[in-house]
Amino acid sequence: MSSSDSAVDVRSLAGSDHHKYDLTLTDKVIAATGPNAHPRLAEIMPSLVRHLHDFAREVNLTVDEWTNAIELINECGRMSTDRRNETQLLCDILGLETLVDEITANLLSSTSSSSSSSPTPSAILGPFYRSNAPLLPNGTSIVRNLTPSCPWYETAQSDAAHISGKVLSSSTSLPIPNAIVDVWHTAPNGLYEQQDPSQPEMNLRGRFTTDAAGRFSFYCLRPVAYPIPDDGPAGKFLALLDRHPYRPGHIHFIVSAPEHRTLTTQIFDQRDEYIARDSVFAVKDELVVRFVPREGDPMGRWSLEYDFVLDPVARTVVA
Ligand SMILES: [Fe+2]
Repeated sequence: MSSSDSAVDVRSLAGSDHHKYDLTLTDKVIAATGPNAHPRLAEIMPSLVRHLHDFAREVNLTVDEWTNAIELINECGRMSTDRRNETQLLCDILGLETLVDEITANLLSSTSSSSSSSPTPSAILGPFYRSNAPLLPNGTSIVRNLTPSCPWYETAQSDAAHISGKVLSSSTSLPIPNAIVDVWHTAPNGLYEQQDPSQPEMNLRGRFTTDAAGRFSFYCLRPVAYPIPDDGPAGKFLALLDRHPYRPGHIHFIVSAPEHRTLTTQIFDQRDEYIARDSVFAVKDELVVRFVPREGDPMGRWSLEYDFVLDPVARTVVA
């Protein structure tokens, strides 16, 4: 921080006793909320204001530091486009998206009725989802236009993988026909197709429909670790915190089915060196998978069988 020296000076003058500050300010801000405020905001803003004010008093936050934080957030907004969500990335490296995802899942499960199997845990959506990926037949590949001229051709050959499984209902453990399995992951260069002009449109993205037995299958690549984009404010923040930007190799899924709650999740390749050091804190034990060698299939050197278990829609948040 450019103004850290002056910030330290101010703090030394102020001391650390936050009781010297005007504590009635917090109450005044909370009391300013009007009787016709949005109900949810009226419920949660007193807590947010108290935490914000307590934080500022606890750390003796200075004007220079607050200005730096404002500029960081402004920079996130200026950088965000339909291809890059820097503000979401900032939340991700602070663990906020993972925490909110966990809270939402807990709220949903706490309203559940008895079930015969546990639903697949959710994981964060992340900033690289694109809707309307191509609908593809089961057994086809999401790798598009791969040729020997591609810089990661050899890796794509050695990491070609077949993934198959079922979509099941947690209430009955029965398979769900006509479920949609929406999948996306990076190329071996660690880039999603919208980050990389050399990749074909919608490369490594696809949607598959489960058959009458609730089964899906497709070819993809074993995922590789990649750094989250660190050329913007989120990256600068990571550097200031002496943190690495890497995510362990993972594959994203959104699984949806009639009369069932849509599942957003990721699976993580057990082999990855960053499996215990995810820069966005999304790894859960139940989502760590092990690819096994696949014999006699020229399209895939590795194989994974993985089932997704969805909750019925009856499990909804009670507002
Ligand atoms: Fe990702």
